[in-house]
Amino acid sequence: MEIRSQIRSVAHFVPERRVTNSDLSSLMDTSDEWITERTGIKERRFVDPEQTSTSELGERAAREALDKAGWRADDVDLIVAATLSPDYYFPGIGVMLQRRLGCRTVPALDIRAQCSGLVYGLSVVDGFIKSRQAKKVLLVCAEVQSPVLDLTTRGRDMAVLFGDGAGALTIEGIDATGSEGERGIIDSYLGSDGTGADVLCMKLPGTASPGFISAQDVEEAKVHPHMDGKVVFKNAVTRLLETAQALLKRNKIDPSSIDLIIPHQANLRINEMVRSQLGLPPEKVFNNIQRYGNTTAATIPICMSEAFTEGRLSPGDLVLTLAFGAGFTWGGNLIRW
Ligand code: ACO
Repeated sequence: MEIRSQIRSVAHFVPERRVTNSDLSSLMDTSDEWITERTGIKERRFVDPEQTSTSELGERAAREALDKAGWRADDVDLIVAATLSPDYYFPGIGVMLQRRLGCRTVPALDIRAQCSGLVYGLSVVDGFIKSRQAKKVLLVCAEVQSPVLDLTTRGRDMAVLFGDGAGALTIEGIDATGSEGERGIIDSYLGSDGTGADVLCMKLPGTASPGFISAQDVEEAKVHPHMDGKVVFKNAVTRLLETAQALLKRNKIDPSSIDLIIPHQANLRINEMVRSQLGLPPEKVFNNIQRYGNTTAATIPICMSEAFTEGRLSPGDLVLTLAFGAGFTWGGNLIRW
Protein backbone atom coordinates (compact mmCIF):
# COMPACT_ATOMS: atom_id res chain seq x y z
CA MET A 1 0.00 0.00 0.00
CA GLU A 2 1.32 3.42 -0.93
CA ILE A 3 1.15 5.82 2.01
CA ARG A 4 0.56 9.57 1.96
CA SER A 5 1.20 11.93 4.91
CA GLN A 6 -1.96 13.96 5.30
CA ILE A 7 -2.32 17.08 7.44
CA ARG A 8 -5.35 16.45 9.68
CA SER A 9 -5.39 19.73 11.59
CA VAL A 10 -3.46 22.88 12.29
CA ALA A 11 -3.66 25.33 15.20
CA HIS A 12 -1.68 28.19 16.68
CA PHE A 13 -1.21 30.09 19.87
CA VAL A 14 0.31 33.53 20.43
CA PRO A 15 0.77 35.34 23.76
CA GLU A 16 -1.70 38.11 24.55
CA ARG A 17 0.86 40.90 25.02
CA ARG A 18 1.02 43.08 21.90
CA VAL A 19 4.20 45.10 21.41
CA THR A 20 3.79 47.78 18.77
CA ASN A 21 6.52 49.55 16.86
CA SER A 22 5.88 52.66 18.91
CA ASP A 23 6.27 50.60 22.14
CA LEU A 24 9.74 49.62 20.87
CA SER A 25 10.57 53.21 19.95
CA SER A 26 10.21 54.10 23.63
CA LEU A 27 12.97 51.56 24.43
CA MET A 28 15.41 52.26 21.59
CA ASP A 29 16.18 54.65 18.76
CA THR A 30 13.78 53.32 16.12
CA SER A 31 10.48 54.32 14.56
CA ASP A 32 7.26 52.84 13.24
CA GLU A 33 8.17 54.27 9.83
CA TRP A 34 11.61 52.58 9.69
CA ILE A 35 10.31 49.18 10.84
CA THR A 36 7.22 49.22 8.59
CA GLU A 37 9.11 50.34 5.49
CA ARG A 38 12.02 47.89 5.92
CA THR A 39 10.08 44.83 7.15
CA GLY A 40 6.28 45.27 6.99
CA ILE A 41 6.01 44.58 10.74
CA LYS A 42 3.54 46.71 12.76
CA GLU A 43 3.42 44.71 15.99
CA ARG A 44 4.49 41.40 17.52
CA ARG A 45 3.56 39.34 20.59
CA PHE A 46 5.89 38.92 23.56
CA VAL A 47 5.37 36.48 26.42
CA ASP A 48 5.08 37.68 29.95
CA PRO A 49 8.74 37.13 30.96
CA GLU A 50 7.80 35.85 34.42
CA GLN A 51 5.53 33.21 33.11
CA THR A 52 5.86 31.50 29.77
CA SER A 53 8.24 28.90 28.36
CA THR A 54 8.50 27.70 24.76
CA SER A 55 6.98 24.30 25.55
CA GLU A 56 4.04 26.02 27.25
CA LEU A 57 3.25 27.94 24.05
CA GLY A 58 3.75 24.74 22.06
CA GLU A 59 1.42 22.86 24.38
CA ARG A 60 -1.38 25.41 23.86
CA ALA A 61 -1.11 25.07 20.06
CA ALA A 62 -0.74 21.28 20.25
CA ARG A 63 -3.82 20.79 22.45
CA GLU A 64 -5.93 22.71 19.97
CA ALA A 65 -4.50 20.79 17.00
CA LEU A 66 -5.25 17.47 18.76
CA ASP A 67 -8.82 18.60 19.51
CA LYS A 68 -9.41 19.69 15.93
CA ALA A 69 -8.18 16.31 14.66
CA GLY A 70 -10.31 14.46 17.20
CA TRP A 71 -7.16 12.78 18.58
CA ARG A 72 -6.35 12.04 22.20
CA ALA A 73 -2.80 12.52 23.44
CA ASP A 74 -2.25 8.78 23.50
CA ASP A 75 -3.13 8.46 19.80
CA VAL A 76 0.16 10.21 18.93
CA ASP A 77 3.00 7.83 18.06
CA LEU A 78 5.71 10.40 17.29
CA ILE A 79 6.37 13.97 18.47
CA VAL A 80 8.53 16.22 16.32
CA ALA A 81 9.33 19.67 17.68
CA ALA A 82 11.14 22.57 16.03
CA THR A 83 12.60 25.50 17.97
CA LEU A 84 15.72 27.64 18.32
CA SER A 85 14.60 28.78 21.77
CA PRO A 86 14.16 25.65 23.93
CA ASP A 87 13.12 25.79 27.58
CA TYR A 88 16.49 24.30 28.62
CA TYR A 89 19.90 24.03 26.92
CA PHE A 90 19.03 20.32 27.03
CA PRO A 91 16.80 18.33 26.81
CA GLY A 92 14.78 19.74 23.93
CA ILE A 93 11.11 20.63 23.90
CA GLY A 94 9.97 17.38 22.23
CA VAL A 95 10.13 15.57 25.58
CA MET A 96 8.65 18.57 27.41
CA LEU A 97 5.66 18.32 25.10
CA GLN A 98 5.41 14.56 25.66
CA ARG A 99 5.24 15.25 29.41
CA ARG A 100 2.90 18.24 29.22
CA LEU A 101 0.45 16.55 26.88
CA GLY A 102 0.56 13.19 28.64
CA CYS A 103 1.46 11.30 25.48
CA ARG A 104 2.59 7.68 25.68
CA THR A 105 6.35 7.08 25.88
CA VAL A 106 6.65 7.53 22.11
CA PRO A 107 9.75 8.97 20.40
CA ALA A 108 10.14 12.73 20.72
CA LEU A 109 12.77 14.66 18.78
CA ASP A 110 13.84 18.25 18.25
CA ILE A 111 14.81 19.78 14.92
CA ARG A 112 17.42 22.55 14.91
CA ALA A 113 16.78 24.25 11.57
CA GLN A 114 15.72 27.67 12.89
CA CYS A 115 13.35 29.47 10.48
CA SER A 116 13.23 26.33 8.33
CA GLY A 117 11.90 24.27 11.26
CA LEU A 118 8.47 23.66 9.77
CA VAL A 119 9.68 22.68 6.30
CA TYR A 120 12.37 20.40 7.72
CA GLY A 121 9.81 19.08 10.21
CA LEU A 122 7.25 18.16 7.57
CA SER A 123 9.94 16.38 5.55
CA VAL A 124 11.10 14.39 8.61
CA VAL A 125 7.51 13.50 9.53
CA ASP A 126 6.84 12.40 5.95
CA GLY A 127 9.91 10.13 6.10
CA PHE A 128 8.80 8.49 9.38
CA ILE A 129 5.28 7.96 8.03
CA LYS A 130 6.31 6.60 4.63
CA SER A 131 8.83 4.23 6.22
CA ARG A 132 6.00 3.00 8.48
CA GLN A 133 7.76 4.01 11.70
CA ALA A 134 4.86 6.27 12.66
CA LYS A 135 1.22 6.74 11.70
CA LYS A 136 -0.10 9.62 13.79
CA VAL A 137 2.39 12.43 14.29
CA LEU A 138 2.30 15.69 16.20
CA LEU A 139 4.55 18.43 14.77
CA VAL A 140 5.00 21.46 17.03
CA CYS A 141 6.92 24.62 16.13
CA ALA A 142 7.32 27.05 19.02
CA GLU A 143 9.50 30.01 19.93
CA VAL A 144 10.00 32.33 22.89
CA GLN A 145 12.57 34.79 21.57
CA SER A 146 11.75 38.04 23.35
CA PRO A 147 13.88 37.33 26.48
CA VAL A 148 17.12 37.06 24.45
CA LEU A 149 16.63 40.16 22.32
CA ASP A 150 18.74 43.20 23.14
CA LEU A 151 15.92 45.73 23.53
CA THR A 152 18.24 48.74 23.40
CA THR A 153 19.52 50.84 20.49
CA ARG A 154 22.60 48.58 20.33
CA GLY A 155 20.41 45.60 19.40
CA ARG A 156 17.74 47.39 17.38
CA ASP A 157 18.53 45.74 14.04
CA MET A 158 17.45 42.35 15.50
CA ALA A 159 15.09 43.41 18.28
CA VAL A 160 12.44 44.89 16.03
CA LEU A 161 12.13 41.76 13.88
CA PHE A 162 11.18 38.93 16.22
CA GLY A 163 8.14 37.77 18.17
CA ASP A 164 6.93 34.80 20.21
CA GLY A 165 4.37 32.21 19.13
CA ALA A 166 3.62 28.59 18.32
CA GLY A 167 1.91 26.44 15.72
CA ALA A 168 1.08 22.73 15.67
CA LEU A 169 -0.03 20.19 13.10
CA THR A 170 -1.37 16.66 13.31
CA ILE A 171 -0.28 14.50 10.40
CA GLU A 172 -1.50 11.00 9.61
CA GLY A 173 -0.39 8.28 7.24
CA ILE A 174 -3.26 7.32 4.93
CA ASP A 175 -3.78 4.99 1.99
CA ALA A 176 -2.68 7.00 -1.07
CA THR A 177 -4.96 4.96 -3.33
CA GLY A 178 -8.09 5.74 -1.27
CA SER A 179 -10.72 8.39 -2.09
CA GLU A 180 -8.84 11.10 -0.13
CA GLY A 181 -5.48 9.67 -1.11
CA GLU A 182 -4.16 12.52 -3.18
CA ARG A 183 -4.38 14.96 -0.26
CA GLY A 184 -1.14 15.28 1.68
CA ILE A 185 2.56 16.03 1.37
CA ILE A 186 3.60 15.58 -2.27
CA ASP A 187 7.28 16.52 -2.08
CA SER A 188 9.86 18.37 0.02
CA TYR A 189 13.10 20.11 -0.92
CA LEU A 190 15.74 20.97 1.71
CA GLY A 191 19.17 22.58 1.70
CA SER A 192 21.87 23.98 3.96
CA ASP A 193 25.07 26.03 3.73
CA GLY A 194 27.10 26.19 6.94
CA THR A 195 29.38 28.88 5.54
CA GLY A 196 26.53 31.18 6.59
CA ALA A 197 26.51 29.97 10.21
CA ASP A 198 28.17 33.11 11.62
CA VAL A 199 26.06 35.51 9.54
CA LEU A 200 22.99 34.96 11.72
CA CYS A 201 23.58 33.36 15.09
CA MET A 202 23.55 33.47 18.84
CA LYS A 203 26.92 32.10 19.93
CA LEU A 204 26.43 32.02 23.68
CA PRO A 205 26.09 29.95 25.71
CA GLY A 206 28.14 27.56 23.61
CA THR A 207 31.02 25.10 23.72
CA ALA A 208 32.98 27.09 21.12
CA SER A 209 33.37 29.86 23.68
CA PRO A 210 35.99 29.58 26.42
CA GLY A 211 34.20 28.95 29.70
CA PHE A 212 30.88 28.36 27.89
CA ILE A 213 29.54 31.70 29.19
CA SER A 214 31.04 34.29 31.52
CA ALA A 215 29.80 37.27 33.52
CA GLN A 216 31.78 39.47 31.11
CA ASP A 217 29.94 37.99 28.13
CA VAL A 218 26.65 38.94 29.73
CA GLU A 219 27.94 42.43 30.57
CA GLU A 220 29.15 42.96 27.00
CA ALA A 221 25.78 41.82 25.63
CA LYS A 222 27.28 38.84 23.79
CA VAL A 223 24.30 36.74 24.82
CA HIS A 224 22.04 38.16 22.13
CA PRO A 225 21.49 37.10 18.51
CA HIS A 226 23.50 38.85 15.78
CA MET A 227 23.00 39.17 12.06
CA ASP A 228 24.30 40.73 8.87
CA GLY A 229 20.84 41.62 7.56
CA LYS A 230 21.84 42.41 3.99
CA VAL A 231 23.64 39.07 3.50
CA VAL A 232 20.66 37.21 4.99
CA PHE A 233 18.25 39.11 2.75
CA LYS A 234 20.17 38.33 -0.45
CA ASN A 235 20.63 34.64 0.38
CA ALA A 236 16.99 34.31 1.43
CA VAL A 237 15.63 35.56 -1.89
CA THR A 238 18.02 33.33 -3.88
CA ARG A 239 17.35 30.15 -1.88
CA LEU A 240 13.58 30.64 -1.66
CA LEU A 241 13.41 30.97 -5.44
CA GLU A 242 15.72 27.97 -5.90
CA THR A 243 13.41 25.93 -3.66
CA ALA A 244 10.21 27.00 -5.42
CA GLN A 245 11.66 26.36 -8.87
CA ALA A 246 13.07 22.95 -7.92
CA LEU A 247 9.77 21.74 -6.45
CA LEU A 248 7.73 23.06 -9.38
CA LYS A 249 10.08 21.60 -11.97
CA ARG A 250 10.45 18.11 -10.56
CA ASN A 251 6.69 17.82 -10.01
CA LYS A 252 5.95 19.31 -13.46
CA ILE A 253 3.79 22.08 -12.01
CA ASP A 254 3.30 25.53 -13.48
CA PRO A 255 3.47 28.35 -10.86
CA SER A 256 -0.05 29.40 -11.86
CA SER A 257 -1.39 26.05 -10.55
CA ILE A 258 -0.34 26.91 -7.00
CA ASP A 259 -3.35 28.05 -4.96
CA LEU A 260 -1.40 29.48 -2.04
CA ILE A 261 2.23 30.09 -1.15
CA ILE A 262 2.83 30.12 2.59
CA PRO A 263 6.31 31.58 3.07
CA HIS A 264 8.33 32.06 6.22
CA GLN A 265 7.68 35.52 7.65
CA ALA A 266 11.08 37.22 7.90
CA ASN A 267 10.44 40.31 5.86
CA LEU A 268 7.57 41.38 3.64
CA ARG A 269 10.02 42.63 1.00
CA ILE A 270 11.66 39.20 0.73
CA ASN A 271 8.27 37.55 0.17
CA GLU A 272 7.23 40.23 -2.29
CA MET A 273 10.40 39.67 -4.38
CA VAL A 274 9.84 35.92 -4.47
CA ARG A 275 6.17 36.37 -5.42
CA SER A 276 6.95 38.74 -8.26
CA GLN A 277 9.77 36.53 -9.63
CA LEU A 278 7.32 33.63 -9.72
CA GLY A 279 4.82 35.84 -11.56
CA LEU A 280 2.02 35.30 -9.04
CA PRO A 281 -0.64 37.82 -7.90
CA PRO A 282 -0.53 39.09 -4.26
CA GLU A 283 -3.60 37.08 -3.22
CA LYS A 284 -1.67 33.84 -3.83
CA VAL A 285 0.78 34.57 -1.01
CA PHE A 286 -0.25 34.52 2.65
CA ASN A 287 1.51 36.99 4.96
CA ASN A 288 0.83 37.95 8.57
CA ILE A 289 4.24 39.34 9.59
CA GLN A 290 2.47 42.68 10.07
CA ARG A 291 0.86 41.32 13.27
CA TYR A 292 3.38 38.82 14.61
CA GLY A 293 6.85 39.72 13.34
CA ASN A 294 9.21 36.82 12.74
CA THR A 295 8.31 33.90 15.02
CA THR A 296 11.07 31.74 13.42
CA ALA A 297 9.97 28.05 13.28
CA ALA A 298 6.39 29.03 14.11
CA THR A 299 5.70 31.45 11.24
CA ILE A 300 4.45 28.94 8.67
CA PRO A 301 2.12 26.92 10.94
CA ILE A 302 0.68 30.18 12.32
CA CYS A 303 0.04 31.30 8.73
CA MET A 304 -1.49 27.91 7.84
CA SER A 305 -3.79 28.08 10.84
CA GLU A 306 -4.95 31.63 10.05
CA ALA A 307 -5.26 30.97 6.31
CA PHE A 308 -7.48 27.96 7.02
CA THR A 309 -9.66 29.87 9.50
CA GLU A 310 -10.01 32.78 7.07
CA GLY A 311 -11.06 30.48 4.21
CA ARG A 312 -7.91 31.24 2.19
CA LEU A 313 -6.95 27.56 2.39
CA SER A 314 -9.41 24.79 1.53
CA PRO A 315 -9.20 21.00 1.18
CA GLY A 316 -7.75 20.13 -2.23
CA ASP A 317 -5.74 23.37 -2.63
CA LEU A 318 -2.18 23.09 -3.91
CA VAL A 319 0.07 24.75 -1.32
CA LEU A 320 3.75 25.62 -1.43
CA THR A 321 5.64 26.38 1.79
CA LEU A 322 8.99 28.18 1.53
CA ALA A 323 11.52 28.97 4.26
CA PHE A 324 15.02 30.28 4.74
CA GLY A 325 16.81 30.76 8.03
CA ALA A 326 19.91 30.73 10.18
CA GLY A 327 22.42 28.05 9.36
CA PHE A 328 21.87 28.77 6.56
CA THR A 329 19.01 26.33 6.08
CA TRP A 330 16.21 26.47 3.56
CA GLY A 331 13.51 24.41 1.93
CA GLY A 332 9.87 23.96 1.05
CA ASN A 333 7.02 21.50 0.86
CA LEU A 334 4.49 20.93 -1.89
CA ILE A 335 1.19 19.91 -0.29
CA ARG A 336 -2.26 18.99 -1.59
CA TRP A 337 -4.18 20.45 1.38
N1 ACO B 1 15.50 51.28 13.59
C1 ACO B 1 16.08 52.32 12.99
N2 ACO B 1 17.24 52.25 12.32
C2 ACO B 1 17.82 51.03 12.25
C3 ACO B 1 17.28 49.90 12.85
C4 ACO B 1 16.07 50.05 13.54
N3 ACO B 1 15.44 49.03 14.14
N4 ACO B 1 18.08 48.85 12.59
C5 ACO B 1 19.11 49.30 11.86
N5 ACO B 1 18.96 50.63 11.66
C6 ACO B 1 19.82 51.53 10.92
C7 ACO B 1 21.20 50.99 10.74
O1 ACO B 1 21.99 51.30 11.88
C8 ACO B 1 21.66 51.74 9.50
O2 ACO B 1 22.07 53.03 9.88
P1 ACO B 1 23.33 53.72 9.15
O3 ACO B 1 22.94 53.80 7.70
O4 ACO B 1 23.41 55.04 9.83
O5 ACO B 1 24.47 52.80 9.39
C9 ACO B 1 20.38 51.86 8.68
O6 ACO B 1 19.30 51.68 9.60
C10 ACO B 1 20.28 50.87 7.57
O7 ACO B 1 20.56 49.59 8.09
P2 ACO B 1 20.63 48.34 7.19
O8 ACO B 1 20.99 47.15 8.02
O9 ACO B 1 21.47 48.64 5.98
O10 ACO B 1 19.10 48.24 6.74
P3 ACO B 1 18.47 47.31 5.67
O11 ACO B 1 17.79 48.12 4.66
O12 ACO B 1 19.40 46.22 5.21
O13 ACO B 1 17.33 46.59 6.53
C11 ACO B 1 16.86 44.55 7.66
C12 ACO B 1 17.68 45.82 7.66
C13 ACO B 1 15.39 44.91 7.80
C14 ACO B 1 17.28 43.72 8.87
C15 ACO B 1 17.10 43.78 6.36
O14 ACO B 1 18.44 43.67 6.08
C16 ACO B 1 16.48 42.43 6.40
O15 ACO B 1 15.28 42.28 6.55
N6 ACO B 1 17.27 41.37 6.23
C17 ACO B 1 16.73 40.03 6.29
C18 ACO B 1 17.10 39.50 7.60
C19 ACO B 1 16.03 38.84 8.34
O16 ACO B 1 14.86 38.94 8.08
N7 ACO B 1 16.45 38.11 9.36
C20 ACO B 1 15.55 37.45 10.20
C21 ACO B 1 16.03 36.12 10.59
S1 ACO B 1 16.48 35.16 9.24
C22 ACO B 1 15.18 34.80 8.47
O17 ACO B 1 14.16 34.69 9.09
C23 ACO B 1 15.27 34.67 7.09
